[in-house]
Amino acid sequence: MARKQLVTGGAGFIGANYVRQALRKTQDAFVVLDNLTYAGDLRRLEPHLSNSDRLIFVKGDICDKNLLNSLFVEHEIDTVIHFAAEAHVDRSISGPEVFVQTNVNGTVALLSAAKEHWESRKDKRFIHVSTDEVYGTLELNDPPFTESNPYKPNSPYASSKASADLFVRAWVETYKFPAIITNCSNNYGPWQFPEKLLPLMIQNALTGKNLPVYGDGKQIRDWIHVEDHCSAILCVLEKGKLGETYLIGGRQERYNIDIVNLISRYVGDYLDEDLSELITYIKDRPGHDRRYAVDCSKIERELGWKPQHTFEDDLPKYINWIIDNQEWTVSVQDKKYEDYYNQHYQV
Ligand code: NAD
Ligand code: TYD
Repeated sequence: MARKQLVTGGAGFIGANYVRQALRKTQDAFVVLDNLTYAGDLRRLEPHLSNSDRLIFVKGDICDKNLLNSLFVEHEIDTVIHFAAEAHVDRSISGPEVFVQTNVNGTVALLSAAKEHWESRKDKRFIHVSTDEVYGTLELNDPPFTESNPYKPNSPYASSKASADLFVRAWVETYKFPAIITNCSNNYGPWQFPEKLLPLMIQNALTGKNLPVYGDGKQIRDWIHVEDHCSAILCVLEKGKLGETYLIGGRQERYNIDIVNLISRYVGDYLDEDLSELITYIKDRPGHDRRYAVDCSKIERELGWKPQHTFEDDLPKYINWIIDNQEWTVSVQDKKYEDYYNQHYQV
């Protein structure tokens, strides 16, 4: 039977990719709730927003309890996919309060509304989309994170997500609430806001700006294509066990500096220029996590999901996407972005 999904943060990078994929793969109906912060953009949902009778957009805040109540009643929501969040570590360091408000208070408001409206748990699902950053940092030789690692968040962003995860856990334990948590590694792919490593470096390389590498550039992240993350969420929705946590990753650990070198080479080839001199080492991020790596064997073994994309194949395609979507990329680098950029990178 078709579900009625409330997708919070569905105008953001991952949420919009999820909606596009879920429209394609299911017959479900979708209500996207998003208050369109600097990171939200409805162009990510086009042409579906204009064409599809299975997709509705509501501009609003996940902290707005009256709005949440009216959405659950009016649209008979039986599924929540919760993406809405403040999601950039650097912004959480300079301004943590909004991370507590959206990521913690917003999640609790959403959990409360769903609990109130879901008298029967039958056929209800709340998927809480979270991050591997809740587990903190790894040494070079440590095994990757598993679902049983203790939470040791280091940044205000990671702490706010960890706190939200713990509220979801409390709802499961206390109220037998039908939730599942997913913790995913670093995403890349179309429509990512250009404050994150890959789109920032690609756009800077294309426009001849410095490529600002934090510290020694030897930090490691585990990269997953956003399409793989979204297919994992759909898989968890279909087959996941209530109350469980599933780690999602791409099994693609890379040093930051190797990624920046690759980008400078690919974009340099495209422009027929040597861009290596643009690479600039700058002051490290405070509390910078050295390494993230995810062991996703639980979701592979129990639910039969596997990542399909490979980083080295995808990077040139993603660079081409940014080249083909310059209008969007340049337009989101507005005055506010410029102010953020100049202040953060002390330009
Ligand atoms: P994003 O910043 O691109 O999108 C977040 C969206 O949430 C935006 O559209 C924004 O307008 C909306 N939003 C923010 N505050 C809101 C509020 N109070 N009410 C309603 N909407 C609000 O972020 P993303 O990268 O797409 O991340 C989505 C989710 O996935 C987050 O929960 C994040 O923690 C998680 N996640 C992200 C990554 C990653 O690599 N980007 C990895 C693992 C998990
Ligand atoms: P980011 O994309 O912000 O994701 P996260 O901090 O959530 O992992 O950063 C990925 C890595 O790239 C991280 O180690 C910080 C580093 N980085 C830079 O070196 N320079 C930059 O300008 C940015 C944005 C990130």
